[in-house]
Amino acid sequence: MPDVLAWRSEFELGLDEIDDTHRDFVALVSALQTATDDELIERLGALRTHTQSHFAMEDEWMRETDFPPVGCHSGEHARVLEVFDGVLDRARQGDLKLVRRLAEELTPWFEQHAATMDRMLVFWIKSKQAVPTSP
Ligand SMILES: [Fe+2]
Ligand SMILES: [Fe+2]
Repeated sequence: MPDVLAWRSEFELGLDEIDDTHRDFVALVSALQTATDDELIERLGALRTHTQSHFAMEDEWMRETDFPPVGCHSGEHARVLEVFDGVLDRARQGDLKLVRRLAEELTPWFEQHAATMDRMLVFWIKSKQAVPTSP
């Protein structure tokens, strides 16, 4: 079995809403990485649903605070959701190997995305003292 993503202190960015969402994201990714074949599609679906609201929350804050690289960060969110949808379609046609590959790639993707784009967003929000309110 490939490495399973687990929460590490370096993922902590210092904004509770994002950190809590990222903890849930990590848990859902690790659930996908440890799924049996029978569980794969359901777990990818759960991850997709959660990720949509995760990204929508960040996108909304970028708009509210005029985050300069909003196009770059939101664009990456949109591409990831597209990949999820494409892989879900293929999985429903029986291509479970593709889900396994996506599950593996989500570890380096999250490490990179959280350490760069999300970290920059938290820094920006804090520098504008525009800590968002929960819905
Ligand atoms: Fe995020
Ligand atoms: Fe993000």
